[in-house]
Amino acid sequence: SNLETGKFTWKTPSNIALVKYWGKKKHQIPENTSISFTLDACFTLTTLTFEKRHSELISESRHNFEVYFEGKKKEDFKPKIATFFDRIEQYCPFLKEYDYKIESRNSFPHSSGIASSASGMSALALCVMSLEKSLSGVEMTDEYFYKKASFLARLGSGSACRSVKGSIVVWGKHGEVEGSSNLYGVEFKDEVHSNFKNFHDTILLVDEGEKQVSSTVGHKLMFGHPFAEKRFEQAEENISKIKEILKSGDLKAFVNIVESEALTLHAMMMTSNPYFILMKPNTLKIINKIWEFRAETDLNLCFTLDAGANVHLLYPENEREVVNKFVVKELIQYCQNNHYICDRIGKGAKLL
Ligand code: PMV
Repeated sequence: SNLETGKFTWKTPSNIALVKYWGKKKHQIPENTSISFTLDACFTLTTLTFEKRHSELISESRHNFEVYFEGKKKEDFKPKIATFFDRIEQYCPFLKEYDYKIESRNSFPHSSGIASSASGMSALALCVMSLEKSLSGVEMTDEYFYKKASFLARLGSGSACRSVKGSIVVWGKHGEVEGSSNLYGVEFKDEVHSNFKNFHDTILLVDEGEKQVSSTVGHKLMFGHPFAEKRFEQAEENISKIKEILKSGDLKAFVNIVESEALTLHAMMMTSNPYFILMKPNTLKIINKIWEFRAETDLNLCFTLDAGANVHLLYPENEREVVNKFVVKELIQYCQNNHYICDRIGKGAKLL
């Protein structure tokens, strides 16, 4: 190709799983189907600048790139990205024709305990797809573009494939979800009840430190785990249930599945070998406060957790005012430095 140089910038959201992905096979194939809400306020902005390599260097084995995070050159981010480039190379043969500069920043504090791999890896995958699109001589359909972007993102970080397109995304082959695949995330296309419109996620930052257990280590804990098979079955059943719930708008049933999924994820970590407790005392304080408040008010707020101590507080739009008061009055005190992030369900990635 004769494209010499150029750049693309993608703004890509984080996501929060309702039914969790925990455990994978080779090549980033998930052991079970997962489903997530795309977020809005938590995002990564990535610019990929590319410049044609001199032809004599093209056969050189490694990809050539520099990484800048929040304006500063970052050597320690390079190995993960090098692995990503190596993995996607067979699907993107044009990659080695260019040298790259990757500039990235997050809307959320780096050490907030919010995983940036989902938004970060999907942003990079989308930049690579924009390059493929501009190199391709033929018209590229949106369907191909986003499917392949999600496919590539998955090879960077599993959950990243759910941060490409749509408000609700399913990843993993499931008999009741049309078009679903182990290879990429698909937009949940069924009619969704208005109860879930503009759904909120207030992220309570209980522990802003680095994650104690990387998800790479976490997924490996599911190999030979005594409860693994049962867990994977349960997740598939929960996908069937949540599919119906998203249609019917049954918030009580939603609360039940989402909280059970969060606790099950942590139960898997507590019952693996080695074992971990990733919740902090304040995580449990918050959970108990949520349960008390729900019993008093009959509202439909609930919590979910990632592989860490932070709590995601989910609630519908029409409960926003009351829940916000409750957060400020009762929950913020358990957050590190009183930090929390008001987020909500979003729409997916955007080319800037
Ligand atoms: O994408 P990974 O490999 O970082 O795994 C993420 C796993 C959880 O966040 C704990 C659950 C999920 O489905 O997002």
